Amino acid sequence: AGTADLVIVANRLPVDRVTLADGSPGWRTSPGGLVTAIEPVLRANDGVWVGWPGGTEQDLQPFEFDGLSLVPMTMSAEEVKDFYEGFSNGTLWPLYHDVVAKPEFHREWWDAYVGVNQRFAEKAAELASEGATVWVHDYQLQLVPQILRSLRPDLRIGFYLHIPFPPAELFQQLPWRRQILEGLLGADLVGFQMNGGAQNFVRLVRQRVGHKTHRDLVYLPDGRTVKAAAFPISIDAKGFEELARSERVEKRAETIRDALGSPRKVFLGVDRLDYTKGIYARLRAFSELIIDGHFDVEDAVFVQVATPSREQVEQYRILRDEIDRLVGHINGDLGRIGRPAISYLHSSYPREEMAALYRAADIMVVTPYRDGMNLVAKEYVATRYEDDGALVLSEFAGAADELRQAWLVNPYDINGMKSALLEAYAADERERGRRMKAMRKTVLQHDVAAWADAFLLELAAARGAHGKTV
Ligand code: G6P
Repeated sequence: AGTADLVIVANRLPVDRVTLADGSPGWRTSPGGLVTAIEPVLRANDGVWVGWPGGTEQDLQPFEFDGLSLVPMTMSAEEVKDFYEGFSNGTLWPLYHDVVAKPEFHREWWDAYVGVNQRFAEKAAELASEGATVWVHDYQLQLVPQILRSLRPDLRIGFYLHIPFPPAELFQQLPWRRQILEGLLGADLVGFQMNGGAQNFVRLVRQRVGHKTHRDLVYLPDGRTVKAAAFPISIDAKGFEELARSERVEKRAETIRDALGSPRKVFLGVDRLDYTKGIYARLRAFSELIIDGHFDVEDAVFVQVATPSREQVEQYRILRDEIDRLVGHINGDLGRIGRPAISYLHSSYPREEMAALYRAADIMVVTPYRDGMNLVAKEYVATRYEDDGALVLSEFAGAADELRQAWLVNPYDINGMKSALLEAYAADERERGRRMKAMRKTVLQHDVAAWADAFLLELAAARGAHGKTV
């Protein structure tokens, strides 16, 4: 056995290998909600993080980064293609997100998925101390719990899915549905964003694997019990608020507003460039409000930050072209000199710059077709310490369950989105204040530390239930 009492296993490390302007190798914060949430958890608990730093570099050694212990997993070019771009993001991602795009099923992709999961499990087994806790994350690693248990039955194994777990009608399409369910059942506790996901999982286990279940428990033939439950994820809300309050961020927010032509109202979208996020529809809704004459480019601008993501996957390339074309079209038709209707940034920014952008925005627009949680919505709320600003939020983001006071929209309904954007734009200070205050209370209370504590506590209890002392 190794020496770590807590091992986090996720496909991504919190930092990504990049080549800097001068050609030397460097690190950059990885995109996405998983890293946003897990980073503060590892910081608060002593442990190691096993994950992929991006790319195909082969001889990376464990290292410390900004106080975190990171264990890089290498991937071959073939694995990047078949495991990461293929099975993870060409099969599972679209399938689990309500088939917003069409999933593809390829046997070579599945084989690569099994192989990479095996390697991640072996690495975790090597690092974990006797009776340690291993916390496995997300759809890329659903076989790890089972493999790990066979290697190390002494471990306490938790699994958390950051994206939605789909209804049976969709999950059943997977040729490897049974293997995935059995993979997850290697854990003592399987966590989901929403109750619906946990229920879908338990029902599928009963129907497809044939195990006995009762409410949120699965009874395995070997006497083990697996619990499935919802743990809605969150952010380091206080930390984010503090960052937003800092003088540097306030100054930067002012500079941004000036550059955008203050007092123009600023609409903001921040997403990985992903087809689940509803970027196209929201930009159309905004542009139609200008065309319909509700406001003018002198009155408002839409800033859309789209972080590059999975750029080798075809559906992501198609989306990028579509958004490029739409933005060009809208700005060409509606913009004036120094006044584009949309300020489009295909780039990723550090936390501090994001905080400044949130501070500069009057209306935050988060309109995914399907999203496990969406932490951008929570980040925006955390930065609004004066209880101002407005949030337009899709009903189909997990965050909508908690942020009930947002202007909730159906992203498939462009007219409905237009009305909501307009209402948020026109709402008076009191109305915005009332809504934001309530949302801030929720976000500050249910922060990521509370999420992690709840999961780890439940994991300890679940493991205790079948009689092994850990
Ligand atoms: C989502 C997923 C994460 C993933 C992130 C970024 O948040 O739930 O597992 O890491 O997107 O995507 P990427 O493919 O770049 O890791």
